[in-house]
Amino acid sequence: MSQQPEGPQGGVLIVDFGAQYCQLIARRVRELGVYSRITVPERAMFTFTHMRPQAVILSGGPRSVYEHDAPQLDRKILDQGVPVLGICYGLQWLAQNLGGEVTPASSGAEYGRTEMRIDDAGELLAGVRQDGIVWMSHGDKVAKLPPGFSVLARSAPCPFAVVADRARGFYGLQFHPEVAHTQDGGVMLENFVRAIGKCRSDWNPGNIVDAKVAAVRELVGPDGEVVMGLSGGVDSSVAAVIIHRAIGRRLHCVFVDNGLLRAGERDGVESLFRDDYHMDVKIVDASERFLGELRGIIDPEHKRKVVGKVFVDVFRDEARSLRSAKFLGQGTLYPDVIESVAAHGGATSTIKSHHNVGGLPKDLDMTLVEPLRDLFKDEVRALGRQLGLPSSLVDRQPFPGPGLAVRCLGEVTRQKLEPLRQADAIVRDEVEKRGLQQGLWQYFAVYLPIKSVGVKGDARVYEDVCMLRVVSSQDAMTADWELLPVDVLRRISNRILNEVKGFSRVGLDISSKPPATIEWE
Ligand code: XMP
Repeated sequence: MSQQPEGPQGGVLIVDFGAQYCQLIARRVRELGVYSRITVPERAMFTFTHMRPQAVILSGGPRSVYEHDAPQLDRKILDQGVPVLGICYGLQWLAQNLGGEVTPASSGAEYGRTEMRIDDAGELLAGVRQDGIVWMSHGDKVAKLPPGFSVLARSAPCPFAVVADRARGFYGLQFHPEVAHTQDGGVMLENFVRAIGKCRSDWNPGNIVDAKVAAVRELVGPDGEVVMGLSGGVDSSVAAVIIHRAIGRRLHCVFVDNGLLRAGERDGVESLFRDDYHMDVKIVDASERFLGELRGIIDPEHKRKVVGKVFVDVFRDEARSLRSAKFLGQGTLYPDVIESVAAHGGATSTIKSHHNVGGLPKDLDMTLVEPLRDLFKDEVRALGRQLGLPSSLVDRQPFPGPGLAVRCLGEVTRQKLEPLRQADAIVRDEVEKRGLQQGLWQYFAVYLPIKSVGVKGDARVYEDVCMLRVVSSQDAMTADWELLPVDVLRRISNRILNEVKGFSRVGLDISSKPPATIEWE
């Protein structure tokens, strides 16, 4: 499968030396309305030539510049006439390559907060408070400045906290401006991007939509046709609406009903995309096939593999039946494709290139159309709003690709899915009608096939357990359990026990991630 050319021109090129905070730098720049792109050192000059950035940021990294296999960058990047800001390792690389000296920090590594005293604000530190807190995390330091450099600010343990060679447009920070703990870090980045780099501020939802639509039109051409899987999630929905805006009914969407969806999902997709957006959406009811293949399987990983495989088979059949479609639409996001150096900064770089969950038929010889390939999730949401998609879709909670299969413990059967679906609908209804979803990452029901005795009416019952899982999270890597107001919990429990047949008990999951995960399987 081939790919379209990468990204727009202009903006800020960020060279990733293996920093944990690289994506954060990219997002901070974009929040200023300026396009930014991350690349690995090995590809920096190549990307530079294509992108023609107005400024370059060199990130931090875990290595020492004097190690023989430390990440290196083509020095030509310093001769391009655009300003360069080095952060931490980036500053050390600058210093070493411009005739300065870098040594291990004499008092060992310096981590955490320190106060910064400004000697000479200049453009970079304009508007930054005196004695503000900055966040350091480095084991090396610049021991001797390169010729032409002067000190703008220092901290007690670090005489070269902020340095610059203003004539040549080289700047360096020994701390991390992109992390929230650094006071006025955003001001420093803004000064570099706007006042020093003079970067264009044209990265906003309206312009992005126009640019994406034009790019899809150009890639697909006047008669090309695109097939794509529409899941009803944010990414595939926004991608589909952009592609549809570009080529109208030459986009053919396939919605696979795998029998593992939540209540109302299929109807919602049908009415929104078919009726409101007038898109060509084919609904493929493959629930028999999915549930048939899942029969007897209780192992979570096995379930996931089966759902993924059947999805690929079903989608492949549909794509092949649309012989005229030579393009495959996808809602891939930027974090899935960012080229980053290996976490520990090894000599060789790892290029991450994950694809959307749900898996794709790799043997389809089609050209990928991925309009969200250079966007972060929050940008995709902003685009969704710009495109008029309802908040119920744009702001909706994540739902796993394997669907209710990973929330239905033990064997997945229709007899268990139906009560689970009803209980889940009750949880969503009670949370959303009070607006409690703000600040929650996910809220859902889980089916536990554990029988316990209850009494309903005057009769003894022996039924299963419905667990309630409500979590907050920033990025799903870690999560904490959240307690809904007690009256809401009481109402949810009452409704599930009275309205849903199959549960005699409702439980509350109070496990954080780690060590638990958000989903139960
Ligand atoms: P865990 O359970 O690993 O989940 O804490 C983290 C986040 O990822 C979602 N999730 C998935 N999303 N396909 C997806 O698209 C999957 O297979 C999948 N499994 C988990 C989960 O809902 C949570 O937000």
